Order: sequence, then structure tokens, then C-alpha cells
Amino acid sequence: MSTNITYTPDALSASERRIAMGQRPLVVWLCGLSGSGKTTAAKDAERRLYSLGYKTYLLDGDNVRHGLCSDLEFTDADRRENIRRLAECASLMAGAGLIVFVSAITPTRELQALAREIVSKHAGFSLCYVDTPIDVCRSRDPKGLYRKADAGLIKDFTGVSAPFEAPESAELTLDTSKDDIVGCADVIVRHVLSSQIDLTAAAEKMRAAALEAGKAIMEVYSRDDFDVRLKSDDSPVTAADLAANRIICEAVKDIYDAAVLTEESEDDPTRLLRRWCFVIDPLDGTKEFVSRNGEFTVNIALVFDGHPVIGVVYVPVTGEMYTGIKWLGEKTAEKRIMPYDGGEPSAPEKIHVSDRDDHLIVMGSRSFSSKELDELLERNKDRIASFTVSGSSLKGCRIAEGKADIYYRFGLTHEWDTAAMQAVVEAAGGILRQIPGQEMTCNRPDTLNRSGFYILNKESSALK
Ligand code: ADX
Repeated sequence: MSTNITYTPDALSASERRIAMGQRPLVVWLCGLSGSGKTTAAKDAERRLYSLGYKTYLLDGDNVRHGLCSDLEFTDADRRENIRRLAECASLMAGAGLIVFVSAITPTRELQALAREIVSKHAGFSLCYVDTPIDVCRSRDPKGLYRKADAGLIKDFTGVSAPFEAPESAELTLDTSKDDIVGCADVIVRHVLSSQIDLTAAAEKMRAAALEAGKAIMEVYSRDDFDVRLKSDDSPVTAADLAANRIICEAVKDIYDAAVLTEESEDDPTRLLRRWCFVIDPLDGTKEFVSRNGEFTVNIALVFDGHPVIGVVYVPVTGEMYTGIKWLGEKTAEKRIMPYDGGEPSAPEKIHVSDRDDHLIVMGSRSFSSKELDELLERNKDRIASFTVSGSSLKGCRIAEGKADIYYRFGLTHEWDTAAMQAVVEAAGGILRQIPGQEMTCNRPDTLNRSGFYILNKESSALK
């Protein structure tokens, strides 16, 4: 390194860049023999990520040797310099916020380690070994180089007259002779998408936030003077709502570079520019709170591109904590008991919607009824076995755990009334849609859902 140079820090923080790009940067480094399919797999992955709205770039070994590395040959020293430049370049691009693919033979463990070492200082690094057998690469021979190398026309050709060492530890391994390119790209795409969020850790923090909010709510709920100030502006319900809101907003702000949409805070329109957004109702079921029947909930959803990915619904009075996670086509829904007073939490239990599509148990609202609903239920009375009521988002949770089957709600609701329970219901195998059947999305400019919504355990339970 030269002397008399000073490193100047970035104007923008890593978090600001992540927010601006709407993604977490990563370098996926594909190593393997010439003709193994590195570039083809990376290009296919790039196309798919592009269609999902991600910003990517591919640094291809052959291409880079036309410019940035046009002074380099295939000696050990030049290959080292080639990998060093690629790694530095990939780091800069990841620093700017891109998801970067590098496809380069990277023939030795030392070079694979060098790439990892350089990139890891600045960004996430995943080594992807494209382990296609040399016989397959030779028979493909897309550039006619194996033929030339076998005839002695290219010296130091990797796999023929120069070594290739399989990586000791690679995050991903592909074999393009066994899996087609779509399957190989799929492995890469899933890896990139799962690098975008640690779902388990996020869900854990969301539960902790809901529990703390529940504690604050219960502190108000159990006050002796509860009834006295119910009607005033500083009523207990308002106090509980605001305290819970403060706790949750503070707790989630560090979970992810997500925006926050909550019933209780002023709307920040920049949330519309973000791919990730928390949608929060700190205290759902004010009527339940006031009438002291215990059926009020704390609701926190993490939404990606309008879809709830994680939903946490907490019922402080009973300690019931529901979690639903939906990401990459995988779903997990669970319930555990987390007492607000510091008691030992129970182990999580998986929950699932019921299998009934007849003799249905219909969930009803305690505080809301409508003519449309009465008529719908009347028309379908032969399919209905019983009717049960509960407050707030608990209705969705009861369906998610199979205790009831369907719920129809006509009239106005807000995103925060449904987002968390939507994740729980959908992760448990159920359905939550707007009436008459369009998808319920979140983090919209207009947070009001004007047409109502329904929850079903399964499609065939829908009322006609
Ligand atoms: S690396 O060894 O430094 O990682 P890199 O991926 O940049 O190699 O370039 C490899 C590409 O250069 C091959 O895909 C092939 O098209 C071409 N090539 C030309 N000569 C050689 C050689 N002697 N060994 C390997 N690849 C070569």
C-alpha cells in the first residue's frame, strides 16, 4: 500500500444504504471448473432476483479479463491478482448495496480463502461450489478450450494441466450435471432471499416486544381507579395503548431496516418507499379492554412488499402468544404461553387450521354486526354448526388453531387490525382475504380496507 493516504469514512451508513436499496448486500462467489455452469447459474439467479425487485450484478471471470484484468494471464501470480481484484471490486459493489455474483474458477483453496477474507471485511460472503464433474465440463466444452488444452495448445489449463482444489467449506454446492439450471438457480435464489432476514431472531424479538407491551397494558388494566376515568382523554385505555405503542416502536426499530406503521403514531409516508414495514396495533380490542373481558391483543406484523411475513399476536390476560411465519413458500404457526407477570413460558406448540368444510364453527364479533353478515349466515345456515364470539384479532387466532373455522367481517377495518393475524392464519394453513376475494396487502398508501374481509380454514368452507 502507498504511504500518505488517509481513509475517509462513507457519507452514508450501511443501514442508510440498505434502506435506499431495499435489500441487504451479499457476495455470492461461484467457483468451479471452466464449463461447469457458474455463469449460467448466476445469470439465471440474477434474472429471477431481478423479477423479485432485487438489484444485482455479475462479475464474470471471462468478462473481467477483457477490461479490469486484461493485463493478467493464467500464471499462479496472475490468477491471485485476478481473484484479489475481483474480490475488491465485489466488495465495493456490495458496499454500494448490490447483491453481487462473481463467477471465476478460483482454482485453489488459498484463492477461495483470499476471496472470502477480502469480501468478508465489508459484506456477507457465500462460496458456491459448482461441482460439475470434469468429464461433463469437457464434453460440454462451450468455448472449445478443453479440446485445445487436451491437444497441448493451452498451457496451465485448470483441470487439465493446472490444479483445481474443491473448497473445504462452501455455503452452497451445485452440480449442473445432476440438476438443471432452474434447480441450481433456485438454490442460489433461496440462499440470497434467506440472507435478507433472520426470521427466527426477528420473531423472537417481536414476541419479546409484545410481551413487554402486554406488561405495560396489564399494569394499567389492573389499576384500582380503572373505571373512574374511562371516558376522559387520558383514559386508561389511551394510556395503555400509548405505553404499548412506545415500547413496541422502540423495540422493533433495531430489528430490521423496516418502516413502522402503527395505529397510534403519525403516519410516516416514507414507509411506502420501503420493502419492509412493521404494521402494529399495540392494543386491539378497546371495547374488550373497557368491558374487562380480557379479549384484547397486542399485534405486530412484519410486512415485505405488502405481504405479512411474520405475525405476532399476544393476549396479555391469558399469556397466549401466537406466531406465524411465511417466507419462501414455507409456513410455521405456533402458540406458546408467555405470562406477562414473569412466569415461566411454555414450550411452543404447532398450530393448524381445522379440516372441516361442513358443520362449520363460525367466529363472530362481540361488538360488530351487519345486515350483510346476518343475511349471509341465514343463507348458509345448513352448513353452520355453531357460532362463537370473541374480541379483536383473537378471532383469527382461534381459526388458526382449529377451534373455529370461518369469520366474515363487513365494513371498515385498518391494515393494523388484520396484518398480524393474517400471518398467523396463513402460516397455519388458512386464508385471509378482502371481500369479495382479492388479496389483503399491507403498507398501502390508504391503510383503510373498505370492503371488509373474511378468514377461512380452507377454500371449500367459503359461504355462498
Ligand atoms: S481464475 O483461475 O483466475 O479464477 P477466471 O475464472 O478468471 O480464472 O478465467 C477463467 C476463464 O478463462 C475460463 O472460463 C476460460 O474461458 C478462460 N481460460 C483461458 N485460459 C485458461 C486457462 N489456462 N485455465 C483456465 N481458464 C482459462
